[in-house]
Amino acid sequence: MTTAENPATATDTRTITLLVNGREVTRAVSTRTTLSDFLREDLDLVSVHLGCEHGVCGCCTVLFDGESVRACLMLAVQARGHEVETVESLSADQNDLHPIQQSFAEEQGLQCGFCTPAMVLRAKEILADGRERSDAEVRSDISGILCRCTGYQNIVNAVQNAGRKLSRGANGGAGTHDGVGTSAVDGAETEQATDIDRAPGFDGPAGTEQRG
Ligand code: FES
Ligand code: FES
Repeated sequence: MTTAENPATATDTRTITLLVNGREVTRAVSTRTTLSDFLREDLDLVSVHLGCEHGVCGCCTVLFDGESVRACLMLAVQARGHEVETVESLSADQNDLHPIQQSFAEEQGLQCGFCTPAMVLRAKEILADGRERSDAEVRSDISGILCRCTGYQNIVNAVQNAGRKLSRGANGGAGTHDGVGTSAVDGAETEQATDIDRAPGFDGPAGTEQRG
């Protein structure tokens, strides 16, 4: 059977425009390309780590319109008109780390680092409300991301430490770091965006949130 006879094997391409780490990106992508592959291979955002590639480990977590999602479970075309944030957005310079990154370093909240970008982004999401969290609450909040190294306690400590730093406005708080680490998409068709089309009728990636 030829490709023309079998639509399931045909390569279909769409041009998508989205915001990635504060910059507008336009690319032609296969409708089969996952968001994680798009971020890693097309935009060189290799902090998006692939462990299981079927929604179990959470290591591919990115922020999608501010909420954590598993990028391996989404298609790149679903991100058209939306905003995606990877950990590269948090700091442009290792000497000017985001308070959450500082806290992970201070509390030894990582060993091999494979889960760390996902943990840091999840921490950014949950700490946005400015509320202090107990150990049990943090453990529940990060339960969608598997860490094979740390035993979790130091990650819990790091998230709580980050919450204290952010509430004190350490280094100006997270806001001064947002969107500064965009060099990883340099060379892409990027411009600072103020407004892009939102994909009509798309309410987000059902079933891909970390919560629950
Ligand atoms: S790579 Fe494991 S959930 Fe996406
Ligand atoms: S630090 Fe190794 S998987 Fe979490």
